[in-house]
Amino acid sequence: MTRETWATRAGFILAAAGSAVGLGNIWRFPWVTADNGGSAFLLVYLGIVLLVGVPGLLGEFVVGRRGKKSPVGALRDLSGSRAWGLWGVFYVVTAIALISFYSVVGGWILRYFGESALGLAGARPAYFTAPGEYFGGAAAGLDALGFHLLFLGLTALVVYAGVRRGIELGTKVMMPAVLALLVGLAVWAGTRPGAAEAYAFYLRFDLATVRANFFDVLAPAAGQALFTLSLGAGTMITYASYIDEDRSLPFDGTVIAVLNTLVGVLAGLVVFPLLFSLGVDPSQTAPGPGALFVGLAGAFSQLPAGALVATAFFGVVVLAALSSSISMLEIPVSFLVDEYGLSRQRAVALVTTAVVVTGGVCAINPTVAGTAVFGFVAGPLVDTLLTAGLTAVLVFVGWVMGRDAVAEFRSGAGGFSAALATPWLLAAGVALPIFLLFTLLTTFGVDASLGFWPTVLVAVLAGAVAFVGLRTERSLV
Ligand code: ALA
Repeated sequence: MTRETWATRAGFILAAAGSAVGLGNIWRFPWVTADNGGSAFLLVYLGIVLLVGVPGLLGEFVVGRRGKKSPVGALRDLSGSRAWGLWGVFYVVTAIALISFYSVVGGWILRYFGESALGLAGARPAYFTAPGEYFGGAAAGLDALGFHLLFLGLTALVVYAGVRRGIELGTKVMMPAVLALLVGLAVWAGTRPGAAEAYAFYLRFDLATVRANFFDVLAPAAGQALFTLSLGAGTMITYASYIDEDRSLPFDGTVIAVLNTLVGVLAGLVVFPLLFSLGVDPSQTAPGPGALFVGLAGAFSQLPAGALVATAFFGVVVLAALSSSISMLEIPVSFLVDEYGLSRQRAVALVTTAVVVTGGVCAINPTVAGTAVFGFVAGPLVDTLLTAGLTAVLVFVGWVMGRDAVAEFRSGAGGFSAALATPWLLAAGVALPIFLLFTLLTTFGVDASLGFWPTVLVAVLAGAVAFVGLRTERSLV
């Protein structure tokens, strides 16, 4: 069976950008920026995207394009080691964890979109009356389960149709639609009273806040960069495995990161003027589901053409979420197709059935051992898996692929990009894994108990242990 490939370069870029642009940009990015010093934070964030995100993206691209298989096959074949193949299964598990909670949130959005669209036909959207209570009822339980299944079904349909006819075609429509709708909404929001005040709040240059909290904002900024660029779950390995010609990976990676940041900034230019124009204080609205589904949904109810604006806004979010969820489902699907020779259709059916169950548990959201499942999966579990996943890819690129990675990086790249290959490999193999291990330790609060430098030392030691383990494993192969 010949492996599927992207039909065009733009198709790959839009699919990868579609994977990156999602809930992370629209619901989280504007708030994280506003809370942490506005445009001064944006500079730190851009620095992290450039120094951690883009090199990480290139790490996944290099493994995917060179390996031409799902993460399992790519890691195994490129290293010649079964242990790395086994580690590839980690990405399949991560992808399933990711889509399990993502599909539940996608279901909420689908529901709000449907409610808003009903409003266009004259009915008053149900969430307009009491947004808080409405969200409370929609967030978990049988309703949430139903909409999770609907969102998952849509995702599965696109993936079922294949790389070219499903993912590529779908994202070629979705991404431009997201951009056009967001620009339209941002321009309109700019004409609302209070817009100037909103811009001052969102994009103020508050260096003092960034300076005072620099080390505190590093970990959230890195976490945001990983999640929003879809790194650490093998998504970009899988998408790059469908590239069939050599073109500049550094260029493509930069375009994707820029598009992704642009959507986040644009989302803020819609959300904040809207809230300010209605006298809602965004600093009192915590980031997360509540901001989008209660704060903003409540704001729509007070606008003259609220249902129309809400339909356009939730339409953007549905498309952005869908173009991300298809990339998550594609990982286990490509694994089954590549490793077990299943047809795409059977693989989609199998994986979807599994996510019906795992996502279903997130939708019902029981409390296990005192912890609510949804919050655990969407928070610490996914954060940890993504950070560990990207760290391993970088270590693989730096220490296992080495020169092959440099050759792959250079292949199709222009002179300037090609010159970056060696510094990139050094960063990927040494600095970035230590940085990511450090952020992983801070996620577990190690820095709070040990202090900053001892935590850095632990990260370096952990890196050294991993390095020795890797060398030993390689000498055994
Ligand atoms: N990258 C996707 C997002 O930002 C997962 O939502």
